Amino acid sequence: RSIARRTSTTGAYLTRRGFASESAPDRKVAILGAAGGIGQPLSLLMKLNPLVSQLSLYDIAGTPGVAADVSHINTRSQVSGFAGDEQLRQALEGADVVIIPAGVPRKPGMTRDDLFNINAGIVKSLCTAIAKYCPHALVNMISNPVNSTVPIAAEVFKKAGTYDEKRLFGVTTLDVVRAKTFYAGKAKVNVADVIVPVVGGHAGITILPLFSQATPKANLGDEEIEALTKRTQDGGTEVVEAKAGKGSATLSMAYAGAIFADACLKGLNGVPDVVECSFVQSTVTDLPFFASKVRLGKNGVEEVLGLGPLSDFEKQGLEALKPELKSSIEKGIKFANDN
Ligand code: NAI
Repeated sequence: RSIARRTSTTGAYLTRRGFASESAPDRKVAILGAAGGIGQPLSLLMKLNPLVSQLSLYDIAGTPGVAADVSHINTRSQVSGFAGDEQLRQALEGADVVIIPAGVPRKPGMTRDDLFNINAGIVKSLCTAIAKYCPHALVNMISNPVNSTVPIAAEVFKKAGTYDEKRLFGVTTLDVVRAKTFYAGKAKVNVADVIVPVVGGHAGITILPLFSQATPKANLGDEEIEALTKRTQDGGTEVVEAKAGKGSATLSMAYAGAIFADACLKGLNGVPDVVECSFVQSTVTDLPFFASKVRLGKNGVEEVLGLGPLSDFEKQGLEALKPELKSSIEKGIKFANDN
């Protein structure tokens, strides 16, 4: 069977057992922050992905246990756990895709930007190591604030002389996952059929779902669209409040992260027409980074797709998000250059 056929249904491997892997090329995936709330279920889901041949789990502590546990699952990949700075090199060497959910999550009342001071430093040090040990890997940035951590990563890679804008991605898939779920609920359509692009950034009003382009089409009123938009923008906060101090989205984020990494692997393997939304270097607007639909290929980003036709409500949302997104991007760039 061809790779394309075997992997054509998004996430199908999550529900199928006994898949074949003989024709898929070797791919090493490293997860940095693998012992955390997102890291553990993400490690599980990547262990289930038949496109992965080597799964490298890194954290400051706790990864030997997670790796031993996950390694007993009878799927293709060989699992190794690495802990501490001195093992970071081994964790990263040869990686095709590096997924970064390292850093602290939000507590009730916090914005993603409140995480900046801690997570910016973590991301900077991990990206310095990526530049050294696996400069050609595709980087999937989950650590918040994504609107700033992606620009930080870009600056670190530029300084190291390894920056390739085609290989750096802010993971905004959870916004897409939420938009699809909420839309399907309101529009009373089968959630598995729903497609909704989500553009902009990954925090509050910078998250802009384009429900005017959602399919299957539904006749939702303006108020319903506004409510869906707000719920998508506040989806993270909904989880933070429900967890009441025990962190933010981890399980749905692990699912979203697994979907995005799977898309990156398919692209690397030459599967055609792999398109996901992601926060990338962009000329779609006047901002240097922006989330929109991206076609993935053998080198990472194959094409950054435009926004398509927007409703008046979406046009307003786009103008409203630009100042905040611009300042988050600049904050990241400044941090990387000052520290
Ligand atoms: P967590 O606190 O449960 O796990 C974070 C893990 O990172 C811990 O195991 C910690 O030991 C590890 N870590 C800290 N410093 C590290 C370093 N220098 N190297 C390697 N690992 C390190 O947090 P959780 O819930 O897993 O969230 C992780 C991040 O993901 C947060 O920044 C959170 O805001 C973000 N997030 C992003 C989402 C998105 O849509 N992009 C959605 C949800 C969360």
